[in-house]
Amino acid sequence: MGFTATVGGRSVDCAEDQPVLDAFLRAGIWMPNSCNQGTCGTCKLRVVSGEVDHRSSPADTLTDDERAAGLALACQARLRSDAVVESTGAVGGRATHPLRDLTATVLEVADIARDTRRVRLGLPEPLAFDPGQYIELTVPGTDLRRQYSLANTADEDKVLELHVRLVSGGAATEGWLFDGLAVGDRIEVTGPLGDFVLPAAEEDDGGPMVLIGGGTGLAPLLGLVRTALARHPQREVLLYHGVRGAEDLYDLDLLAELAEVHPGFTFVPVLSHEPAPDGTGYRTGLPTDLFVDDVASARGWSGWLCGPPAMVEAGVKAFKRRRLAPRMIHREKFTPADALG
Ligand code: FAD
Ligand code: FES
Repeated sequence: MGFTATVGGRSVDCAEDQPVLDAFLRAGIWMPNSCNQGTCGTCKLRVVSGEVDHRSSPADTLTDDERAAGLALACQARLRSDAVVESTGAVGGRATHPLRDLTATVLEVADIARDTRRVRLGLPEPLAFDPGQYIELTVPGTDLRRQYSLANTADEDKVLELHVRLVSGGAATEGWLFDGLAVGDRIEVTGPLGDFVLPAAEEDDGGPMVLIGGGTGLAPLLGLVRTALARHPQREVLLYHGVRGAEDLYDLDLLAELAEVHPGFTFVPVLSHEPAPDGTGYRTGLPTDLFVDDVASARGWSGWLCGPPAMVEAGVKAFKRRRLAPRMIHREKFTPADALG
């Protein structure tokens, strides 16, 4: 048995155990969302009428006062009656790609840097997504789901590319993606998800961009940068890739090629824990600090941050110091699944 959720006059059926966000996204109705784990608060909505079960919504994302005021996290809440809801962000205001479940086939597993793998997945049919979005993989034989960003541009819709970093003791990484995953394996994929996306092409004025990725946080930035440069080949794009040491860098050839074709594109590899090998000229320190050193004012730029939560928070501060408007700062945090309160 299920119930109906209505937003802005559009109704969807929600199965008993289906998060409200999942029902809207599957129906192709856009709702702001980022982590889908209850940690970011992006999907907060107001329950105008009806009952919801907040499930495991963490208290630091949805406070008691907010619950009392009728707020809920769409990615966690289940309906307990028919309900009318209002999103606290824009709903249905932009084109969206319906959330879908597909069975993918592993086409390639390659070690591309220290503890870092590229996994290419073939799909039985194209999956529409915006560059920068992510998918969820179900760990075989479990109910566990883990998120991985797409490194693709939107026209690469039948072969999805993921960059995965090994987490010691991790169920998905050490236990599966780095142990036994083989070409030909079948994987359950759900997507696309997230709002780490460029403005629609007709609204994209080609303004300057700064992007900072930590580790495999480079993945979605590669989709965003290539799309942004294809739209406006001369635009100014400054991309920092922060890693611990030179062995963690990857896709250097692809990035060098982009810099050759696009004079406004600058790629800056940054090593935080190890010295730069002789002759490489790599810079050392934190990419968020180097951005503050390099750029006197970024007023009017858009800013893009992806990777470990602490790096993303440091990046927000750095961007604000250099006068980026808060609404122009976009972020994707690789929050661990068990950070859920
Ligand atoms: P788990 O079994 O979940 O964790 C094992 C232990 O390690 C836990 O104690 C956990 O707290 C800790 N842990 C987990 N992650 C880290 C970490 N990074 N550093 C230190 N300790 C950690 N990862 C990628 O590699 N590439 C991506 O493109 C990517 N995209 C993501 C997009 C989103 C929106 C989100 C929310 C996360 C993304 N992640 C990405 C992280 C990914 O979803 C998993 O959390 C990660 O692979 C670890 O999963 P696991 O099952 O191996 O570890
Ligand atoms: Fe729901 Fe992040 S809290 S998408």
